[in-house]
Amino acid sequence: MAKNKLNQVYNIDSRHILESIPQNIEIQTTITSPPYFDMKDYGSENQVGYGQIYEDYLNDLQNIFGQILKITKDDGTLWIIIDTFKRNNQVVSLPFDLANKLKDIGWFLQDIIIWKKDKTVPWSTNGFMQRKFEYILFFSKSPKYKSNKDKVRIYDTSQLKKWWVKYPERYNPKGKALDEIWEFPIPVQGSWGDEYIRHFCPLPKELVATMVQISTDENDIILDPFAGSGTVLSQSAYMKRNYIGFELNNEYIKMFENYLKRTIKKYRKEYELLEQQNNQSDFEIQILNLRVLKYARLLINKIEEETARDDFKIFVTIKNRSSKRNKSIVAEYQIIGDAESDNILKLINEIIVKPPLSKFGIEAIFKCVKENKVKSKNVFGYSKTNSYSYIKNIDMSSPKVKVISDICVDLNEKDYD
Ligand SMILES: C[S@@+](CC[C@H](N)C(=O)[O-])C[C@H]1O[C@@H](n2cnc3c(N)ncnc32)[C@H](O)[C@@H]1O
Repeated sequence: MAKNKLNQVYNIDSRHILESIPQNIEIQTTITSPPYFDMKDYGSENQVGYGQIYEDYLNDLQNIFGQILKITKDDGTLWIIIDTFKRNNQVVSLPFDLANKLKDIGWFLQDIIIWKKDKTVPWSTNGFMQRKFEYILFFSKSPKYKSNKDKVRIYDTSQLKKWWVKYPERYNPKGKALDEIWEFPIPVQGSWGDEYIRHFCPLPKELVATMVQISTDENDIILDPFAGSGTVLSQSAYMKRNYIGFELNNEYIKMFENYLKRTIKKYRKEYELLEQQNNQSDFEIQILNLRVLKYARLLINKIEEETARDDFKIFVTIKNRSSKRNKSIVAEYQIIGDAESDNILKLINEIIVKPPLSKFGIEAIFKCVKENKVKSKNVFGYSKTNSYSYIKNIDMSSPKVKVISDICVDLNEKDYD
């Protein structure tokens, strides 16, 4: 039994976490799925849950998570995957009973997430578990806690509604925030092997990866006090985090160690590739381009409406990132048209402080020029009604062209249905 190292599973009762973990170790996050009361015998003495009465079971969990609170960093967190069950023809609200117990000892309950599995577990025999979802309780040690929210945003455009094309101002350039329903199918086959799955019901890799990504950075320490098959620990290892596990059943520990040896190379590589790809920055550029162009289009429409004229154009170009709060980008807008620049600038200043333009997060610089002196090569023209696909084969002097830019966007919202 290694007592002084990270990246170990301790074959120790997790009721003794505090005395077993070296003093200098501080946990960044704990991710765990404890036994669901007495529903399953995990084959070892002193196990939490099986053979206990409900009150003792809850008190033991309170005690264990109380010890974990002490060794958790001030900005640390705790994820517990847990479910209700039925007893005497009634639902026992274990997730809520446990949440209250943990609130009593100082954990802050931040979120209750629904983990939607697309299938129920077919080998659950007694009907208690014929469920489509389980709960994930998310706690923090302090009101402020580490949370890499931007890392788990959805920016794969096939998962977004097509509206992002026409309404880029409604989308965070880093992607859509996660909601409180997480869909991850339960593992059914693959490298785990059927027997392994039947025995343990391991958590889906992607579910654990999401929690790891939100709550930790590389080299942080992750704890699972009920390690079982060690899904949390292996995922932590793939993602270059340190781990510590507790597990009473030594057989499970051996199986985990074998499994990790077999898989670490493959999944470490997968993680590294994903980190490198950075499609998120492509999405960000796309959203900002769309916003900058749409801003120009809405502005020129408004100017023409207010001045009762239709001979203005705008040339727009992106300058740099904005350092201002609530602004993402600096863009320069040249208003082309024969008009008194003082009057136009006054009008613009009235327009941009009101919605919708005030909501675009653009730090705009304006210039007025009498005639179109902007370059005509490598620029793209957009109409009064569409700033997400440029007008093909048209002269920039055409009255149809209202916005001219070196930004090239050519999207069709129907492609994103
Ligand atoms: C629900 S399973 C964990 C499943 C795990 N999340 C996975 O993906 O495989 C609960 C585990 O807690 C272990 N366990 C129960 N009581 C324990 C205790 N007092 N200390 C350490 N481990 C315990 C059981 O042996 C079992 O493997």
